Amino acid sequence: MTTPMLGYLDTKFVEVMDDTVALLRQVFGTKNRLTLPVSGTGTAGMEAALTNVIEPGDGVVVGINGYFGERIANIATRCGGVVTTVEAEWGTHIRAEKIAEAVAKVSAPKLVALVHAETSTGILQPLADAIEIAHSSNALFLADCVTSLGGQPVDMDARGIDIAYSCTQKCLAGPPGLSPISFSERAVDVIRNRKTPIQSFYLDMTLLENYWHGEKRSYHHTVSMSMIYALREALRVVLEEGLAARYERHELNARALLAGAKAIGLQPAAEDGYRAPMLTTLRIPEGIDDTTIRKRLITDYGIEIGAGFGIFAEKAWRIGLMGESANERNVMLVLNALEKLLIEFGHNVETGTAVHAASQVY
Ligand SMILES: Cc1ncc(COP(=O)(O)O)c(C=O)c1O
Repeated sequence: MTTPMLGYLDTKFVEVMDDTVALLRQVFGTKNRLTLPVSGTGTAGMEAALTNVIEPGDGVVVGINGYFGERIANIATRCGGVVTTVEAEWGTHIRAEKIAEAVAKVSAPKLVALVHAETSTGILQPLADAIEIAHSSNALFLADCVTSLGGQPVDMDARGIDIAYSCTQKCLAGPPGLSPISFSERAVDVIRNRKTPIQSFYLDMTLLENYWHGEKRSYHHTVSMSMIYALREALRVVLEEGLAARYERHELNARALLAGAKAIGLQPAAEDGYRAPMLTTLRIPEGIDDTTIRKRLITDYGIEIGAGFGIFAEKAWRIGLMGESANERNVMLVLNALEKLLIEFGHNVETGTAVHAASQVY
């Protein structure tokens, strides 16, 4: 990020942009031409995805099993979409039959949207059936990959995802500020055939496409050179490690964390078989004060874990192991710290139990 600034149309900077897009396509698992990082955090990607494909009156089906599904439904409604939600209890995945039922109720649905890794609950949502359901009713399929990209396979083309967006600050392990996004040809056709103009100028993909991919690049808005340098470097690091190795590393550390947590009586809050490795949710035991423990983790050990959102507020902790932070050192440190604090607050466990259980996994 300390690389000197270049003009937004400087030929050297255009090379950096092209490089970044080529790396992004590899990480998304796509050949989609319309792939680029949108200025702004993950929510900017969410807005860009929805505002470009939804026109007033369009039927949109949104899965909600946590906070970020709710945000998609909120933005889709603001875009004028007629939203049908498919809800599942927080901490569980959304069943394909329920998605099929909802899609069947909507005449000519334009879009089916799901959160791949729901950061508020730690659920990794299966996508295959939902994609088939969307496509068989001629709808586009959108996946929020804000938390999954770089930590779990997204594989847009192989799976048939039409629109995916992410962020830079989670499993890509960069600073926050950009939202990588990619649109399939089907999605691009939908954008080109809109009857109404795209409401947002800043997030208009047809204008952004000219700046990022046009033969004659044309100014749209001043992008952050520093952020693009950072994203390019983060993507290089991801691919240097290798996608498969990176996914495996996230899995391994999540397994070790959960084994250690269970050994000291901390139960997972997310459904077995559908847990996202980069975000582990643990139920807070009876009699343990959420805020006290999280504060002590920060002051005594320099570890920040997430508070529960929504119905998980004060009921569950969210432990992120994303990107470079998904490592054995952090797992052992947080387990040891949690164990010590739980013992201090009256939990009956033997010192060393959590770390021992995690070691068995490693
Ligand atoms: C699944 C999911 N979607 C969207 C967002 C919004 O991203 P941002 O906070 O980067 O705008 C987040 C943020 O945590 C997220 O976890």
